[in-house]
Amino acid sequence: MKIALILPALAISFGLQAAEQVTSPDGRLVVDFDLGRGGIPTYSATFAGEQIIKPSHMGFVLADSTKLDRNFSIVNIARGSEDETWTPVWGENATIRNHYNSLTVDLAQPRHGIKMNIEFRVFDDGMAFRYVFPKQTREYLVIDAEKSQFAMGSDDTAWWQPGDYDTQEREYIKSKISEIPAHANDDFMPNASTTILPSSVQTALMLKTPSGKYLNIHEAALIDFPAMHLSFDAPALTFTSALTPGIDGHMATIKTPFSTPWRVVMAGDKSTDILATNIIYNLNDPCAIEDTSWIHPTKFMGIWWKMITGGASWSYTDAENFDLATFDYSKAKPNGRHLANNEEVRRYIDFAADNGMDQLLVEGWNIGWEDWFGKEKDYVFDFTTPYPDFDIKALNDYAHSKGIKLMMHHETSGAIGNYERHMDAAYELMNQYGYDAVKSGYVGNILPKGSYHYDQRAVRHYLDAVKRAADHHIMVDAHEAVRPTGWARTYPNLMANEAALGQEYQTMSVRHCTILPFTRLLGGPMDFTPGIFEMDLSKTAPGNTTKKQATIANQLGLYLTMYSPLQMAADTPENYFKRMDAFQFIKDVPLDWSKSKYIDAEPGEFIIVARKDKNSENWYAGGVNADVARPVDLALDFLEPGVKYEAVIYADGKKADAIDNPHDYKITRRKVTAKDTIKLRMARGGGFAIQFVKLSI
Ligand code: NOJ
Ligand code: CA
Repeated sequence: MKIALILPALAISFGLQAAEQVTSPDGRLVVDFDLGRGGIPTYSATFAGEQIIKPSHMGFVLADSTKLDRNFSIVNIARGSEDETWTPVWGENATIRNHYNSLTVDLAQPRHGIKMNIEFRVFDDGMAFRYVFPKQTREYLVIDAEKSQFAMGSDDTAWWQPGDYDTQEREYIKSKISEIPAHANDDFMPNASTTILPSSVQTALMLKTPSGKYLNIHEAALIDFPAMHLSFDAPALTFTSALTPGIDGHMATIKTPFSTPWRVVMAGDKSTDILATNIIYNLNDPCAIEDTSWIHPTKFMGIWWKMITGGASWSYTDAENFDLATFDYSKAKPNGRHLANNEEVRRYIDFAADNGMDQLLVEGWNIGWEDWFGKEKDYVFDFTTPYPDFDIKALNDYAHSKGIKLMMHHETSGAIGNYERHMDAAYELMNQYGYDAVKSGYVGNILPKGSYHYDQRAVRHYLDAVKRAADHHIMVDAHEAVRPTGWARTYPNLMANEAALGQEYQTMSVRHCTILPFTRLLGGPMDFTPGIFEMDLSKTAPGNTTKKQATIANQLGLYLTMYSPLQMAADTPENYFKRMDAFQFIKDVPLDWSKSKYIDAEPGEFIIVARKDKNSENWYAGGVNADVARPVDLALDFLEPGVKYEAVIYADGKKADAIDNPHDYKITRRKVTAKDTIKLRMARGGGFAIQFVKLSI
């Protein structure tokens, strides 16, 4: 960072409380900092002349009651700016610009011997601040509360979820800030234990001001710190950071020098500005992995959908009163429903290898699945011992002989200490057999009992698992871990997370997928698992009465609207065999892009995006739609001018409807140029996907 000007600011510490201002490079976002009466750190922000954040206080309270939200004086002020362009290993764009002005205010509370600096970065599309504790006499600080306020400038519309220390597997609710209820219902929480926090919401919190500006509050670089929720005072329209407590009852113990995660307010004139921002990645450190050649976008299938829908099981037996330590699998009676068996896995390998997949995920391959769910046992899985009907060597060899890999699965059942003890052996086993990607999971309460998925200890664990995986050249897709905050810039082997309600609960509303890119996806890719082609789940798993609310074209559109370098084709070979013409799009769609252009969107309504393949001259465009069928006039001006493309259009059929007629789709081809417009109709819960193949003239 270039430091443009440093002021010793002695005059300020002698009682003159100066207001400091820092603006975005384009001057439209303005942040003011002031040490108010009583030495209270206070900031506010305006965007395009509109006050988006009113004067808001900052700071902490320590466990010994030291208040780090008042009685400060300014010791120093530094200004700087940055304008760099970096190259992500994978992503929505080949390069990313990181452009901001900064202000760092060094504060001191001489009476308590405390030094605390506040660093602001102001970008054209958002502002962020963090607290920096330099090395000081008190080496450890125990934090009991963070007091960062976000006093909103108006009663904005919010897309929110109730605060929860353990999960974000819920749908989003839309309301005015003033109407967010103190006690939200927990009517949909399928996967983990839940700890709803009254009067609070989670980040990323999507907002729209009455004048039509779009904002989003989130955090970046959540490292060695608990995740932040936002408690709210609805009448005052004010949010305050609320950290996730640790098992010792304190929020965090930090060792100086220490920088907290960034508190971020994104701002845009258009909804698409929020979809296109890279501010969360920009606030994370550059790539820490020197040789990234082993990290590659990965398209995969799994035996999983049949299991999650209830048509088969993870476990090998139906044994009861199970004790893994003494259980003898060689004598056990198989339940006949165990899908990770040699024969089935070979059949899936054949389909995946013949149809353009890179990997096949096999869950339920290792012993212990008889006795894990909700059991809160510290030791269930060792992540290295296969079931008797899963020949780990032969199956990996078979997959490799067909040009694909198997993907590993580590369900930890929340026993993070157990996972840490077994992790190196588990990764070494992967290296031995040629696995290079793992889907991990944290279903159930984090152990020891009283811990939370989002507490400081668990957050440390998730990043540690990613770093240790990098040492073994392993890519990670972690489910039920903390929501992403841009770690993938620093550790691009973190390919995806779940951390939201995914396809596995697809009775969800047709709105959900039009909100996720405005919330969950801002911190990093999601393993949503698109590509379900049979919406009547009884056809996949007899007895399952669910009808998924999505059309086929919607499922294809998701490969474009939900960016991830790790994408699943989630349905079964049988269901794909019925519609191989539509499956062609899943085979063709790239996972890595040189350019992305969000064309139009509204949270809860629809999203349309166009992207250019990183490895060819082809473009793709896709859309997903919520409750109301809508016409789309897709102007093709994103295409290279003067060039002809063949457009392969996968659209909703005339009668398509996510609920009444989900399997109606139509594939058409036509020659187009940048001057053309393609007219389409997205059904309720529908969408579209188009491939534009550049033609040599
Ligand atoms: C929950 C995950 O989200 C799901 O994908 C996985 O199959 C199960 N846990 C079992 O680990
Ligand atoms: Ca899950």
